[in-house]
Amino acid sequence: GKDKELIRGSWESLGKNKVPHGVIMFSRLFELDPALLSLFHYSTNCGSTQDCLSSPEFLEHVTKVMLVIDAAVSHLDDLHSLEDFLLNLGRKHQAVGVNTQSFAVVGESLLYMLQCSLGQAYTAPLRQAWLNMYSIVVAAMSRGWAK
Ligand code: HEM
Repeated sequence: GKDKELIRGSWESLGKNKVPHGVIMFSRLFELDPALLSLFHYSTNCGSTQDCLSSPEFLEHVTKVMLVIDAAVSHLDDLHSLEDFLLNLGRKHQAVGVNTQSFAVVGESLLYMLQCSLGQAYTAPLRQAWLNMYSIVVAAMSRGWAK
């Protein structure tokens, strides 16, 4: 449908290298919730947030995040197939001390990045399409938190 076209088209328009966009997203995330920085055990090796974000370990995490989003975009027709992967990914994030409420802030940061990177192409329907997909991904990850 229209949602999928909006997501695929906008994701493609960000270009092949998604890392710089991921850096914008995580800069925003750490601005909104600086405490999240300390969940990365390697954050003690850097001074400022900007230093952290340019360190290899952080860039690697940013790369991993963008790959998961890329997988979701590629599987829009069967997001279901990512269920086990995302549940496990949620489990790993629970283990490092993330709580599910933080995913709302991550979502806000994702939208912020899209707004910055897409400019005029960032519209209300596009925002909603991304929110819909993101909420499916987050719901699957959240199932990884043991009750
Ligand atoms: C791994 C933190 C959001 C994808 C990790 C690790 C930490 C972490 C500490 C382990 C160290 C590392 O691999 O760098 C966080 C925090 C987040 C967040 C604080 C925001 C609240 C996300 C999101 C995604 C994601 C939104 C993707 C949708 C991954 C992946 C790994 C990972 C793929 C590697 C897991 C593995 O080793 O198998 N994250 N993360 N993270 N994160 Fe995140």
